[in-house]
Amino acid sequence: MEKTIKNTWSPTSWKEKTVKQLPTYSNSELLEENYSQLKGLPPLVTSWEIEALKAKLAEVSAGKSFLLQGGDCAESFDLVTSPKIVNMLKVMLQMSFILIHEMGVPVHRVGRIAGQYAKPRSNDFENVNGKEIHSYRGDLINRFEATEEARMPDSNRLIEGYHKAGLTLNFLRALADEGFADLRHPEQWEMDFMLNNEYYKEYEAMVDSITKAVRFMESISPTRVNNLQKADFYTSHEALNLYYDAAQTRQVPRKTGFFNLSAHMVWLGNRTRDLDGAHVEYFRGIQNPIGVKVGPPFTVDETLRLIETLNPTHEAGKIVLIGRFGKDKIEDQLPPLIRAIRKEGFPVVWSSDPMHGNTFSTEDAVKTRNFDHILEEIKSSFAIHRAEGSYLGGVHLEMTGDNVTECVGGAEGLNESGLGHNYETFCDPRLNYQQSLELAFLIAKEWKQSYL
Ligand code: PEP
Ligand code: CO
Repeated sequence: MEKTIKNTWSPTSWKEKTVKQLPTYSNSELLEENYSQLKGLPPLVTSWEIEALKAKLAEVSAGKSFLLQGGDCAESFDLVTSPKIVNMLKVMLQMSFILIHEMGVPVHRVGRIAGQYAKPRSNDFENVNGKEIHSYRGDLINRFEATEEARMPDSNRLIEGYHKAGLTLNFLRALADEGFADLRHPEQWEMDFMLNNEYYKEYEAMVDSITKAVRFMESISPTRVNNLQKADFYTSHEALNLYYDAAQTRQVPRKTGFFNLSAHMVWLGNRTRDLDGAHVEYFRGIQNPIGVKVGPPFTVDETLRLIETLNPTHEAGKIVLIGRFGKDKIEDQLPPLIRAIRKEGFPVVWSSDPMHGNTFSTEDAVKTRNFDHILEEIKSSFAIHRAEGSYLGGVHLEMTGDNVTECVGGAEGLNESGLGHNYETFCDPRLNYQQSLELAFLIAKEWKQSYL
């Protein structure tokens, strides 16, 4: 039975299933045209990069390294700019240096970048001045501006998204290849914000030690530093708009199976993981590593069946299980899941998304998250894994390299009244540059307590 099901898979077999979170495009001819054009464009990533990431994730599942996945909640086409990309890479690299330095294991960096353009929404429509208009679903589908016209799903945006992803990736590759030596240097590390943190001295000592290590290597072995400059960095997005992902899902010479060549890793969102739905049908046929978001509402049983469906051969490095329970639910919900997965012998990478279960609105209806709640979920996650004898091998964060004011708390003490200063996000609130560095430092502390 399983075999017949597998054999009927194709990059478009999802169309036979119920598709959630994807609006219908009113111009189906244009959609067909855009789809065919996208199918013919060159791939953004290669199958060997995808396989390399999968091999690294297999190491994570064996407890030998750590996964840092993060970036915007929703990227915007208009913000495909040099400073945004530089700042994002800078903060991810600095966070990874903190983790590597403190934990002493390799850290694999995966950005929510170069394709994170499609969003699931709670409501299909939104009422603006008495008029029902489509909700904003990310730049890959419609425009943010709150007018009826801007919000109409437009399939030309599939092509625009591909181009924007390509431009982003091109610059990321160039930076990661050569241009990032200076980001390891101390002048690039902002420190003052940590003055209010009880761990300031430790943080200062760590930055100092990273600096010395860099200087030392530069003085003894310039070629080693050259090698170090090649920061490997992978891309990921939620494969939500299946037209975009399916058009870029292809076979490659001398390899079996289909690869989604739009990103190294793609993930399945918490709202589109129904076993008989279109998204699971799509995901079960691709070779890429797959992130699976798990949080309320879910059952252990359906999660086991989902993993079995997506990874029937139990390949290590294939599934990254990203828990997003919320600080108040994790204690009840994570332990039984860990036990059940261990019992089945599934080799998953366990990752924690402490963002999506901890969103709330202020009295002024500003969507935010509290740094302390985020940290609390991270701490609980480590404590639970430690108690269960399991390895928490990654985190999944919404963050930016810019000085935005979207999440409250952290050492610099942003409060609700300060949220208006620089609130930029198109979707969920992100950690800013300083909050991200601080969290990396605190994550490393938790990891060390658990696994050293
Ligand atoms: C997201 O990662 O932006 C997201 C929508 O997450 P989730 O599917 O976990 O709600
Ligand atoms: Co989000």
